Amino acid sequence: MLEIRNLNKNFDGVQAVQDFTLSLQSGKITSLIGPNGAGKTTVFNIVTGFIYPNSGTVTFDNASLRNLPPWKIAQLSISRTFQDLRLFKRLTVLENVLLGRKHQSGERFLNALLNFSTESPEYKDHLAKAISLLEFVGLMEHRSQLTENLSYGQQKLLTIACCLAAEPEMLLLDEPVSGVQPAMVDKIAEILQQLVKKRRKTIFLIEHDMEFVLRISDLVVVMDEGKKITEGNPSVIRSQPEILEAYLS
Ligand SMILES: Nc1ncnc2c1ncn2[C@@H]1O[C@H](COP(=O)(O)OP(=O)(O)O)[C@@H](O)[C@H]1O
Ligand SMILES: [Mg+2]
Repeated sequence: MLEIRNLNKNFDGVQAVQDFTLSLQSGKITSLIGPNGAGKTTVFNIVTGFIYPNSGTVTFDNASLRNLPPWKIAQLSISRTFQDLRLFKRLTVLENVLLGRKHQSGERFLNALLNFSTESPEYKDHLAKAISLLEFVGLMEHRSQLTENLSYGQQKLLTIACCLAAEPEMLLLDEPVSGVQPAMVDKIAEILQQLVKKRRKTIFLIEHDMEFVLRISDLVVVMDEGKKITEGNPSVIRSQPEILEAYLS
C-alpha cells in the first residue's frame, strides 16, 4: 500500500534519514521504533509532504507522492497526528473534530464551518460524523468542553478522532501513547486494534512504549541514526533482546 524506497534526507550535514526502505501492508499496524533523533518523525514528515527528501521515492497505492503538498496527500487518504498534538486548545472538543473534516467545494473549510447554517444538510452531516467519532473514542461527554481542559491522554485520543475525521485509509500516529496513563494506553491500544480489524484502516505509528508496540503491531521496524536496523513481527523482535537493550533505553 505504502512503499518507501531508498529515502535520504540531510539537514545541514545531519543525515536524518539514510537509504531507508519500507513496505507497509494494508490493514496492518506497522510501528517505527528507535532512540530520539533516529529519524522517525522525519520519515513521517516526508511521507506526509511536510519535508521533501534529497532522494528516494514514496508511493501510495502505486501513485507517487513526489512533490505533493500536505493537503494533497491528505486528499489521497493519508492522515496524521503530531508528537506535539497541534489541537485548537481554545476551541471545544467537537469543534476540533469538525475542523478535521475535509475541505468542502473549494472553500477554506474553517470559513465554511463558521458560515454554515446549523440547519444546513451539509453541517448536519459533518456534525453526525463528528459525533459518531467522539462516541467511538469515548469523548462524547466532553464534546462541549474547551480542549485545553481535557487531560493529556484525552487530548491524545482527540488527535486520533481529528485524524479519523478526514476519513483516511491510512493513519500515521506520532507517539500516540507517550506520556499517557496506563489505563488510557490500554484504551488507545484497543481503539487502534478496532480501527484495523473492524474499519480496515492501515496504521503506521512511532512509539517508545515497547510493551504497547509489541502488543499491537503486526510489523516492528527498528531505526537508528537514520537507518533501518532490523524489522520483524513482535515475536522476532522480542527474541532479539540486544536490539531492545541498545535502541530503546
Ligand atoms: N526540520 C529540521 N531541521 C533540521 N534538523 C532536523 C529537522 N528535523 C529533524 N532534524 C534532525 O534530524 C534528526 C532526526 O530527527 P527526528 O526525525 O525528529 O528523530 P526522531 O523522531 O526519531 O526522534 C535529528 O538529528 C534532528 O535534530
Ligand atoms: Mg520524533
